Amino acid sequence: MSGPDSEQLPEHVRANRHHWDEMAHEWVALGERAWASDDPSWGIWSVPETELAMLPVDMSGLDAIELGCGTAYVSAWMARRGATVTGIDNSAAQLATARGLMAKHGIELTLLHGNAETVPVPDGSFDFAINEYGAAIWCDPEVWLREAHRLLRPGGRLVFLANHPLAMACAPESGAHVGDRLVRPYFGMHTLDWRDVEIDPGGVNFCLPISEWVALFHRIGFTIDDLREPRAPESTRGVQFFIDAEWAQRWPSELVWKVRRH
Ligand SMILES: C[S@@+](CC[C@H](N)C(=O)[O-])C[C@H]1O[C@@H](n2cnc3c(N)ncnc32)[C@H](O)[C@@H]1O
Repeated sequence: MSGPDSEQLPEHVRANRHHWDEMAHEWVALGERAWASDDPSWGIWSVPETELAMLPVDMSGLDAIELGCGTAYVSAWMARRGATVTGIDNSAAQLATARGLMAKHGIELTLLHGNAETVPVPDGSFDFAINEYGAAIWCDPEVWLREAHRLLRPGGRLVFLANHPLAMACAPESGAHVGDRLVRPYFGMHTLDWRDVEIDPGGVNFCLPISEWVALFHRIGFTIDDLREPRAPESTRGVQFFIDAEWAQRWPSELVWKVRRH
């Protein structure tokens, strides 16, 4: 199924579509490895599911959606746990990889090409919504969280993993690696535009201070079940994207919110 034409999309969604279509080929190998695994792990430090408990153990009978599914390995993990799964993604190229892997592994998913801020599915269609670096960082928080609320049934759960605002406060404007200095304001953090940075230009991201996430959940109608700050394992070395493992052993580079629709 195809979503709206690019010209009808908000500017950040259009820019991010171009960005992801261009670099989808770099994500194929990771998608293949993750689809082949029955042992979920999360985020840039591959923190195991046994530690983070992102997914219900048994998802039989649940309708689930992944908002910004990329190559859709999280969707595959949910389908293997018994859920009926829909994935939406803004990049046709990412979905092409997902479709190939779906056929290879014989798993049925409904994959939609579109913007996770406006999902073409009726209200209250899902029991569970998730994303790992999907809508959580690429969509406007106010907009996609309202959409996730609309999509969930009362009592339905939303779980997502995103950049931690402390890491973003230490992320230089040049696009250089996150350092041990606060280089941009924490308060008021919202849009991070990486399109024209000197080093490794990217797309348009979003990140909020912790108290603003909390205020937004309350305003929209979510109850908070948990907040986690995954830590890079002690044995991990090297840089992942723009964060050094040693940084992420000392300070939180990622966060996980688990919330529930009233
Ligand atoms: C890092 S991937 C997340 C998928 C997977 N968990 C992973 O880490 O590979 C980010 C995905 O978000 C998608 N995305 C970006 N903006 C989006 C939007 N507005 N609606 C839906 N998906 C979006 C991108 O196309 C990309 O496939």
